[in-house]
Amino acid sequence: MTPSIMQTFTYYTDEHKMIQQAARDFAQKEIAPIAAEHDESGEFPHETIKKMGEMGFMGIEVPEKYGGAEMDTLAYVLALEEIAKADGTHSVVMSVNNSLFCYGILEFGTEEQKQNQLRDVASGEKIGAYSLTEPMSGSDAATMQSRATRDGSEYVLNGRKSWVTSGPVATHVVVFMMTDSEKKHKGITAFIVTAGTPGFTPGKIEPKLGIKASATSELLFDNCRIPVENRLGEEGEGFKIAMTVLDVGRIGISAQALGIAEAAYEASVAYAQEREAFGKKIGQFQGISFKIADMKTRIEAARMLVHRAALAKTACKDTGERYTIEAAIAKLYASETSRFVTNEAIQIHGGMGYSKEYPVERYFRDSKITEIYEGTSEIQRMVIARLETGLR
Ligand code: CAA
Repeated sequence: MTPSIMQTFTYYTDEHKMIQQAARDFAQKEIAPIAAEHDESGEFPHETIKKMGEMGFMGIEVPEKYGGAEMDTLAYVLALEEIAKADGTHSVVMSVNNSLFCYGILEFGTEEQKQNQLRDVASGEKIGAYSLTEPMSGSDAATMQSRATRDGSEYVLNGRKSWVTSGPVATHVVVFMMTDSEKKHKGITAFIVTAGTPGFTPGKIEPKLGIKASATSELLFDNCRIPVENRLGEEGEGFKIAMTVLDVGRIGISAQALGIAEAAYEASVAYAQEREAFGKKIGQFQGISFKIADMKTRIEAARMLVHRAALAKTACKDTGERYTIEAAIAKLYASETSRFVTNEAIQIHGGMGYSKEYPVERYFRDSKITEIYEGTSEIQRMVIARLETGLR
């Protein structure tokens, strides 16, 4: 297989190469051998997630003073891609921790919140989650029903959230609730809630097609009281926070999709080189070789879009500009590439691709969610088209 020339591009610094190699070594040595077992059992991989924290992978962009590795977004996507190549579950836990939890606190938190709520999550001691979705509010996120009411120096939280990645294992959750429903999206506020707070419990575990060990659940709030100091940003700022954070989240998911696609691609090339039919290696037949060519082409195009989005985020750091369109394009293309490549991988493997004895069926199941969570492909298209046309 031809290594990507992208790896020699000048925007890769020694630091980028170092984290990419460290993530690759760790993922192949520690995660790949246990991925199928956890997929089968659905058991959350506490031990390896903890080790990822020790390696600095759980808060890559967070400054060292708040417990992170203080690297840039390209470093983050390079590491995430390697983890995803070994396992979809580990990579979504890493993505949510970095993008949806740590970035939100870093960008919108007070100094006290950064000291008290960010440090342990960025260092991987604890696990962070992000809770926006509700049973009746998914793509149309502004229609949430959960309510937070101010009562003196506290807020009282009530409602049911759903599809929360790491929900049952997270110690810290950024949750979005309506504080003034008349103001619609301008009446949404963000809060940080910690596990063990009375009135806050994980609900039903969501049974899933893929990323099975990633512990996804409902979160239930029943007169849950939290101090005003746990409000993230101002009252009414929640929707903006949710959307800003999702721009970063979508870059993470695009890297996850790319990593899963690469794993399926490499397995397919190896299989096409070994498997024989009609007296030839199957890779010698045009039917298979053209699939390989299309898979490779789409993967390399996706890689450029993922890196472009990461570089756009870094470039916008000091200007305050938005990189919403770059993130949406990367997420849309990488996730659809991942679904295409993993589907073709099963086809190349034939019956073996449908068997649990080979990993490609897991890659196929894991890739599908990248077209759904953190904004479906339809939502990404809507975001891109709105920004391009100015029409709604
Ligand atoms: N950054 C900053 N602000 C943004 C923004 C962004 N990316 N996108 C929108 N906004 C702002 C707008 O500027 C606007 O602000 P003003 O009112 O001040 O003008 C405000 O937000 C409302 O914007 P819209 O009118 O565009 O809002 P909308 O109701 O039409 O919805 C949407 C827009 C893009 C469809 C949004 O609802 C959306 O992204 N939906 C998908 C939700 C989603 O991705 N959910 C996944 C949850 S996480 C998850 O998957 C689980 C997990 O654990 C992994």
